[in-house]
Amino acid sequence: MARRILLDCDPGHDDAVAILLALASPAELELIGISVVGGNVKLDATVLNTRKLLSLAARDDIDVYAGCPRPMLREIVTAEHVHGDTGLDSGSGRELPDPLRPVADKHAVNFIIDSVRNAAAGEITLVATGPLTNIAVAFAMAPDIIERLQELVIMGGAGFEPGNVTPAAEFNIYVDPHAARAVFESSVKLTMFGLDITHQMLITPPRLKAIEEHGGRVGAVVADLLDFFNRYDIGKYGWDGAPLHDPCTIAWLIDPTLFEGRLMHVVVDTSEGPSLGRTVTDWFGAGEEEPNVMVMTSGDADRFFALITDRLSQLD
Ligand code: BDR
Ligand code: CA
Repeated sequence: MARRILLDCDPGHDDAVAILLALASPAELELIGISVVGGNVKLDATVLNTRKLLSLAARDDIDVYAGCPRPMLREIVTAEHVHGDTGLDSGSGRELPDPLRPVADKHAVNFIIDSVRNAAAGEITLVATGPLTNIAVAFAMAPDIIERLQELVIMGGAGFEPGNVTPAAEFNIYVDPHAARAVFESSVKLTMFGLDITHQMLITPPRLKAIEEHGGRVGAVVADLLDFFNRYDIGKYGWDGAPLHDPCTIAWLIDPTLFEGRLMHVVVDTSEGPSLGRTVTDWFGAGEEEPNVMVMTSGDADRFFALITDRLSQLD
């Protein structure tokens, strides 16, 4: 039976691929709704982008819930320099189809709470690929849902890899470190796809070409989007392509043999200063604290991209 998932995201190019990969995998995953948070761009744009992606996939039956427009304590930090002004700029300048379905008439946080409470205990898996604001607020409003979740799988953090927004911090954690800390300190079963693993998943030219040529109608659009997404990282780091962060979460739920990790204690630094948003990760068990996070550390990049290409072709 397909695992029932809620996806909380901030599209964003890599969030877009995560959404499409989930939609393309009905045998493994049933996406019961998408909650959206401000992050890569402001909330109104991340919500619009999510609805456009559902139109692209001809899946306007899925509801989109708008969530928190800003982090708990800090001003929002966005990433137009990576994702473009819309948050989903394309290489060719072509636009995504207009959305057909209005935004759902419920706050994303209430959607998360109600969905988990209305399902059997252990039935819902939560996936988060943006700042953790919606999740932390849901856990604060309804702590009972923490134990009712099967698990929470996030893209965020950097255990052993330098940060991508400051020397110490990864973007999703940095944008709302207080929310992240609340989530990491909750008792939720937590798996973290941080930069340690996502920086191994580069959108190299052959992988991009495969998505364009073998990913069908939707794959061709995704390749156009990723062509834009690649520009910032290639220009800044001189890599062969940008890291395709967010779909690691969904790919792992589809095929757990793609990635490996290790249980460790992780704490989020919320002190003002150069380490704000750092995920301090205890690989050697040097501290006294019990492990609280499965930190993913290695994976098969070729199989990951082959899965994405194959599944996108099935959206036609
Ligand atoms: C994360 O930040 C965002 O820009 C991406 O969508 C991803 O979730 C990577 O640090
Ligand atoms: Ca994201």
